[in-house]
Amino acid sequence: MSHFLVITDSADLSQSVAYAAGVQIGAIPATPMPARPEELPGYDAERPVVVLDAGPDADAALRLTAGCTAVGMVVVLASEEPERIGFAALKAGAADVMSVYASIPELRASLARADRLATERAYATAGQQGATTEPPRPQGRVVTVASPKGGVGKTMVATNLAVGLARRYPQSTVLVDLDVQFGDVATALGLSPRYSLVDATHGQTPSDPLALKSLLTQHSTGLYVIPGSESPGASEAVGAREIGLLLHTLAGAFRYVIVDTAPGLNEQTLQALDQSSDLVLVTSLDVPGVRGLRKEIDTLRQVGLMLSSHHLVLNFVDPHRGITVKDVEANVGETIDVTLPLAKEVPLSVNQGVPLLQGNGRDQATKQLTHLVELVSADRSAVGRTSRWKGTRG
Ligand SMILES: Nc1ncnc2c1ncn2[C@@H]1O[C@H](COP(=O)(O)OP(=O)(O)OP(=O)(O)O)[C@@H](O)[C@H]1O
Ligand SMILES: [Mg+2]
Repeated sequence: MSHFLVITDSADLSQSVAYAAGVQIGAIPATPMPARPEELPGYDAERPVVVLDAGPDADAALRLTAGCTAVGMVVVLASEEPERIGFAALKAGAADVMSVYASIPELRASLARADRLATERAYATAGQQGATTEPPRPQGRVVTVASPKGGVGKTMVATNLAVGLARRYPQSTVLVDLDVQFGDVATALGLSPRYSLVDATHGQTPSDPLALKSLLTQHSTGLYVIPGSESPGASEAVGAREIGLLLHTLAGAFRYVIVDTAPGLNEQTLQALDQSSDLVLVTSLDVPGVRGLRKEIDTLRQVGLMLSSHHLVLNFVDPHRGITVKDVEANVGETIDVTLPLAKEVPLSVNQGVPLLQGNGRDQATKQLTHLVELVSADRSAVGRTSRWKGTRG
């Protein structure tokens, strides 16, 4: 996610933007209004997305908007009367004009749009600087696998989904381990990779397809992998903005980009969701798991990230748990798409580093995971493209 800067004299607006962004933001007063983008904090390092309050001086705000837009920055104007300055704001290049009284979900949606635009513009700039030979155009689907709680089977689901898709569409799927601190995708696939997410998100690499291709690890099924880091401490080196650029670039080259995540909704997972076309939510068949799922769905709805293309996976399904799939559906108000039984085949396959969908088993877990692959691949809008990228073997 981009760095945000709010320029306002209103503590209320500043607080709402910070809350909606969900990350730390910069804030400076609108009086006096900075005259040029170069005067803004953060301009030299990482040009911020600016939320600019036009209330104190609309003309000065429009001039600053035009200046910022001219250097590729993204500005969202805030006004008590957005319709009054709407036309002038668009002429000045503002990405959006919103009411200073906008609700948090409205603000969140506006910031997410601005953030996406900033990512696109970062590409254009990287391209002009020769970092890419052709500007990547996302075509593939980005499928994020998330869960409210840990240990519920995300990595097992993500690796099987990725292997299942790779077997159907050879050379067209990449799996990214975004569990930055404790990722174990490589272990689950029996790989010993040379490069990790830290390398793939370093410097200009995430927006440079040529640099990225040399960092991919290839699995025997034809799946490409960007594994998590070996060192939990390295997570600090992986910025959310770089993750956004990385997923954008990969979606330009692969039909499917599968993203495994850490438990809960951290900054990296939110950034991945912002770039995603599909969401797979996994939870366990127990009361804490179901409560967590409901909270996660509510939170994602509030921030506008409960993607319309989503699939719910209930894991550890067992008739003796005192709670049924129907109970869960009634509780969360959603249909469960995939029910994975508590099964001995699963830990066995994880421990051997061979996902179930790498074989042709007839057990219930394999059948349900195949069903998930079908649900994801049935989606109409994926544009087929076989990547010609070659990675290193793990
Ligand atoms: N259906 C199942 N039946 C039996 N064991 C399972 C099942 N699903 C997952 N497991 C086991 O549960 C453990 C956790 O699975 P996994 O690592 O995929 O969860 P996770 O959500 O990715 O965890 P984390 O939050 O730590 O990343 C593994 O040892 C796995 O073998
Ligand atoms: Mg995991």
